[in-house]
Amino acid sequence: MQRLVILGLASLLVACGGKEEPKVSAANELKPAVVAPPDKAALAEEAKTAIKMYGGSLKTELQTAMQTGGPLNALAVCQTKAPEIAKTVSESQQLQISRVSLRNRNPVMGVPSEWQAQVLNDFEARKVKGEALESLVYSELVENNGKQEFRFMKAIPTEAMCLTCHGSDISPAIMTRLTELYPQDKAIGFKEGDLRGAFVVVKNLP
Ligand code: HEC
Repeated sequence: MQRLVILGLASLLVACGGKEEPKVSAANELKPAVVAPPDKAALAEEAKTAIKMYGGSLKTELQTAMQTGGPLNALAVCQTKAPEIAKTVSESQQLQISRVSLRNRNPVMGVPSEWQAQVLNDFEARKVKGEALESLVYSELVENNGKQEFRFMKAIPTEAMCLTCHGSDISPAIMTRLTELYPQDKAIGFKEGDLRGAFVVVKNLP
């Protein structure tokens, strides 16, 4: 019986002590793991990719709907598809993407937060100074409630095809439908080349 126990112990020793454990140096033990600072340029690229996906899908949906069913049909598509596509892209890209405007149509999702409104005002000022709307972006890493948050915005210019539903000469049929759906609509009266709003990307960092 005693021999068995000794044998058992010996094999345990062999199993556990046979190989030399890698030495952990005292310096390494004391140093906390170094967390690499967030790569702002890489995050901006991620944001741009998500915006291309969202903006691209929206435009395709809009154009197809206009061609197949006319502007009234397209309006319904904008209303239902825009939030759906935003949700799909946000989930697949692991961030939050949306569209905001100082003159919003959607009374909930189109409303900019305080920092977003500031960026939109800044975009307007940069446009006045001669910067091209197409290339206006904002990018910032901020501390929010003890957590790092990456914020990105990209200006959305008003194009000719947008005027059907955002311009000053909107057909009575479209106008009636817009008033029904969005009684507080502020997204009319735009001209080609105006700042229509911006894409917003927010990513919470670990
Ligand atoms: C067929 C009508 C129609 C056309 C054309 C159209 N939009 Fe819209 N747009 C809408 C509707 C409806 C909404 C509200 C969607 C919602 O409820 O989320 C909207 C919302 C938006 C928003 C979100 C912010 C807000 O005001 O609530 C932006 C930005 C926007 N449109 C930009 C554009 C741009 C840029 C174009 C041209 C490339 C365009 N739209 C063309 C109907 C249209």
